[in-house]
Amino acid sequence: MQFITVKTYEELSRKAANIIAAQIIQKPECVLGLATGSTPLGAYDGLVKKYQDGELDFSTVTSVNLDEYAGLDGTNDQSYRYFMDTNLFNKVNIDKAKTHVPNGCAEDLAAEGARYDALIAELGGIDLQLLGIGLDGHIGFNEPDDCFTKETHEVELDPSTIEANARFFASIDDVPTSAITMGMQAIMQAKKVLLIANGAGKKEIVEKSFFGPITPQVPASILQLHPDVTVIFSEN
Ligand code: F6R
Repeated sequence: MQFITVKTYEELSRKAANIIAAQIIQKPECVLGLATGSTPLGAYDGLVKKYQDGELDFSTVTSVNLDEYAGLDGTNDQSYRYFMDTNLFNKVNIDKAKTHVPNGCAEDLAAEGARYDALIAELGGIDLQLLGIGLDGHIGFNEPDDCFTKETHEVELDPSTIEANARFFASIDDVPTSAITMGMQAIMQAKKVLLIANGAGKKEIVEKSFFGPITPQVPASILQLHPDVTVIFSEN
């Protein structure tokens, strides 16, 4: 594991954008695993800037996102599909048909999970998986549990996750209580993992995850078993 501590969010974002850009340059037809949330926004801005400056070409890139809220479709401005479209996909030359987000509106979320895992397998797996981390140690929406879940699956969101994400909604009652998330298999089989965490509030969970015992009660701790993980933590 490479653990990098930086002083500012700008530095974190710059480093993360550089790592993702290097992946695209090295393998233009790569599969990127992408995350939403507030932490990757600076990195996505950095990637857009590199594209605008003619340094990056997304035309042969495929993306698979980690998760989606249950019941929100892509036209809902709180959906993760909408987030990805507005913060990255609409601003670069990625082929929208090659951008994948689990369908939170599928009638049968278990079948949607199986479809998503089959799609990732068909794509040959993920080259670089970008992750944020929740205050309870979740990655994707893999919440603390008695076991790690392998497949893409439906999950009940932890009350602390609902509270943390309420800032994006008009009221806490509008936050969906369940989601569909990529499971640990696709994440752990990614060739490289880049986890970014921002702010003093994340310090304790980052330490627990990467320097504490490996346990499904701290989902991100499984990453200690991954052969190529980079963590970038910004204290401020
Ligand atoms: C989002 C995701 C979540 C977030 C996590 C941290 O796709 O998978 O695991 O990465 O909730 O969110 P922020 O970055 O908002 O602190």
